[in-house]
Amino acid sequence: MSTDDKIQAAIANPQNMGEMADADAVGTVGNPECGDMVRMWLKFSEKDGKKIIDRASFQSFGCQTAIAVASMATEMLKGKTVAEARELQSSDLSKPLGPLPPMKLHCGDMVEGALRDALREDRESPVAAATSTSGNTLLGDMNQPAMKSGKLKVVKI
Ligand code: FES
Repeated sequence: MSTDDKIQAAIANPQNMGEMADADAVGTVGNPECGDMVRMWLKFSEKDGKKIIDRASFQSFGCQTAIAVASMATEMLKGKTVAEARELQSSDLSKPLGPLPPMKLHCGDMVEGALRDALREDRESPVAAATSTSGNTLLGDMNQPAMKSGKLKVVKI
């Protein structure tokens, strides 16, 4: 199956799509060039004394490739330790889809960026900070004045 076919199959049945009400962490990135955003929620638990990702979910607008990668990534993250998750790069997260075409590489980078943002250690209240502006939806955030004026947060990888 080609990468395109795998992307189509993934977006026909995306996994773990939607806000996670009981998340422990959330990360968001936006790309002003294509106008897309990806948000990822993580729920942690503990196993053998290590913090692991119990569940992950995402929201994404616009781009099918980002949705497909996020769907794969949120499945892949289940059971990974935080340290293992930090090691993952966009090429790892998109691997099940096959090599992405050059113009779509940034779509995978967006998913990696949302994951890294969610795993940042330097935030006080990650969920509240990321969701306080707009009733907690990515669409709400995209309609915020800061987003419309191009002051979108971009995480460089
Ligand atoms: Fe921008 Fe896919 S085209 S995230």
